[in-house]
Amino acid sequence: MSRYAAFVVVLFVGVAFQLSHGIEVNVTDEGKLCLYANLALNFSVSYEVAGNKNSTIEIELPKSATSEGSKCDDTGSTLKLSFAEGHSWSINFNIKDKSYQADVITFAYNLSDLLLFPGSSANGTVTVTAKPDITNVGLDTCYSCKSEEIIQASPQVNMTLSNVLIQAFVVNGHKSENLTTCAADQPVTTTPTPTPTPTPTHVTNTTTAAPTPNTTTTVVPPTTPTPTLPTPTTGNYSIKTDVNGTVCLLANFGLRIGFQQDKKYREVNMEPPAEASGTCGVNSSELVLASKDVTVQLTFTNDSTKFRLHAVNVTVTTSSGVFVQTSNNLSLWEATVGSSYMCNKEQNFTITSMLSLYTFNLHVQPFGVKNGLYSTAHECSLDDTSILIPIIVGAALAGLILIVVIAYVIGRRKTHAGYQTL
Ligand SMILES: *[C@@H]1O[C@H](CO)[C@@H](O)[C@H](O)[C@H]1NC(C)=O
Ligand SMILES: *[C@@H]1O[C@H](CO)[C@@H](O)[C@H](O)[C@H]1NC(C)=O
Ligand SMILES: *[C@@H]1O[C@H](CO)[C@@H](O)[C@H](O)[C@H]1NC(C)=O
Ligand SMILES: *[C@@H]1O[C@H](CO)[C@@H](O)[C@H](O)[C@H]1NC(C)=O
Ligand SMILES: *[C@@H]1O[C@H](CO)[C@@H](O)[C@H](O)[C@H]1NC(C)=O
Ligand SMILES: *[C@@H]1O[C@H](CO)[C@@H](O)[C@H](O)[C@H]1NC(C)=O
Ligand SMILES: *[C@@H]1O[C@H](CO)[C@@H](O)[C@H](O)[C@H]1NC(C)=O
Ligand SMILES: *[C@@H]1O[C@H](CO)[C@@H](O)[C@H](O)[C@H]1NC(C)=O
Ligand SMILES: *[C@@H]1O[C@H](CO)[C@@H](O)[C@H](O)[C@H]1NC(C)=O
Ligand SMILES: *[C@@H]1O[C@H](CO)[C@@H](O)[C@H](O)[C@H]1NC(C)=O
Ligand SMILES: *[C@@H]1O[C@H](CO)[C@@H](O)[C@H](O)[C@H]1NC(C)=O
Ligand SMILES: *[C@@H]1O[C@H](CO)[C@@H](O)[C@H](O)[C@H]1NC(C)=O
Repeated sequence: MSRYAAFVVVLFVGVAFQLSHGIEVNVTDEGKLCLYANLALNFSVSYEVAGNKNSTIEIELPKSATSEGSKCDDTGSTLKLSFAEGHSWSINFNIKDKSYQADVITFAYNLSDLLLFPGSSANGTVTVTAKPDITNVGLDTCYSCKSEEIIQASPQVNMTLSNVLIQAFVVNGHKSENLTTCAADQPVTTTPTPTPTPTPTHVTNTTTAAPTPNTTTTVVPPTTPTPTLPTPTTGNYSIKTDVNGTVCLLANFGLRIGFQQDKKYREVNMEPPAEASGTCGVNSSELVLASKDVTVQLTFTNDSTKFRLHAVNVTVTTSSGVFVQTSNNLSLWEATVGSSYMCNKEQNFTITSMLSLYTFNLHVQPFGVKNGLYSTAHECSLDDTSILIPIIVGAALAGLILIVVIAYVIGRRKTHAGYQTL
């Protein structure tokens, strides 16, 4: 097994060298190799040019980059690559338990260097940092990652690392042949043997191999939303009239908002306390809920017999901007004026192609509230079907059991007949 592992390791190192178009660095300490690195690195930098415009350039780490300033310590080591007029990229490593990890990447770029940043209207050096995902690398192994890793250091700077082979703590001046491969490289099926063996290139101690139930998703399909949000808290909201201060609108519900921003589906919960405001009218009432990042405006109308949720306006502020969607052609949460609308089940409303609302424990009365209390509730049909489902399932199960019993009886008769003829 270990002989086989060694063979695969050697093979992989060979491949890594062939593929590498990047830079190779030997950092020495008192003449002995103490840090080895071989990697390809591209930067994408957006910077300001004349006329308040931004320009984006793609820079490849030049082969002429120097490793001056790199250093090795017993517990920490630094690889620093400097190039051209005052640009540098560095990565720090430290030892933790029986492994090492990358700590921080620092990239400093000099916007005064007009050769790299043509037309730059800013002066001076910009420094950005990022935390790379290089952890738990076994001591006396090289970290290997042929896959591209894109690191967003800031909105202006992306770094693309590829064909990385690094040993941050070289023992006895000799680079290790053993590798710790990154997760992105893992699905390498090099074992034609039928026995299920662990990936031989991955060197970790056995105790850390046990997967925790919380981190079972290694392959996340990019299109499916992750419904990991907890059920939102049910908020209690009421609106009073301006005239005499009596309650004229009541609403209780937990609310989740699903929305599409930058082609990505996201979800947020409206977490109370949200500030409730609004107005009650004869034909139209309005409830506005505002929390830190979310504002929801619900407009109810009635045609004197029935009321409904007629318009929705949602504003969500995220790190990537403000999302606003409005629809004013809805007919939801419908009930007779003088009653309330209730739905305890989770409900899912598609408001626009970009916006969905999910409600939990919904109870609302936008018109005709008496003494601050809800009137008789009209329950949503969803709650009714929840009673139907067990009945249907039960009936189906009963049918299945019947079929099995009949089949068994027939089967027994046949085998009996068979034995008798023998
Ligand atoms: C680094 O060291 C290895 C062997 O120790 C040598 O083959 C390689 O050429 C060196 N690379 C550089 C860039 O000095
Ligand atoms: C240029 O980038 C800055 C942030 O770096 C941003 O505030 C600004 O809106 C951008 N300008 C254009 C025209 O995209
Ligand atoms: C890095 O940039 C060079 C030149 O712009 C390009 O040929 C190469 O494909 C890029 N590599 C990656 C990993 O993006
Ligand atoms: C930045 O670039 C300018 C122009 O090339 C140069 O004069 C200056 O020394 C550089 N800054 C640093 C810190 O190297
Ligand atoms: C950038 O530096 C040059 C030369 O030092 C100077 O003339 C220019 O005004 C500076 N620009 C800014 C925006 O500071
Ligand atoms: C960095 O990558 C992100 C995501 O791919 C992209 O939206 C952004 O424009 C990139 N920034 C730069 C400066 O290239
Ligand atoms: C690789 O690791 C194994 C066990 O971890 C060890 O027995 C072997 O000597 C190592 N090989 C090299 C070349 O360091
Ligand atoms: C395995 O590694 C973990 C963390 O890297 C460490 O806490 C643990 O002591 C190690 N176990 C053995 C048996 O080396
Ligand atoms: C899963 O994560 C939750 C919250 O992050 C935590 O409370 C829980 O202990 C974790 N469970 C396990 C088995 O790690
Ligand atoms: C308060 O005013 C509303 C109309 O604004 C009216 O319908 C209601 O009867 C009044 N209630 C009381 C107690 O005066
Ligand atoms: C929706 O709400 C936002 C603020 O929350 C407001 O600026 C916008 O005008 C509203 N849109 C409509 C159609 O009411
Ligand atoms: C919301 O409704 C759509 C269509 O009715 C359905 O495809 C989707 O699975 C529902 N989502 C949730 C979280 O219930």
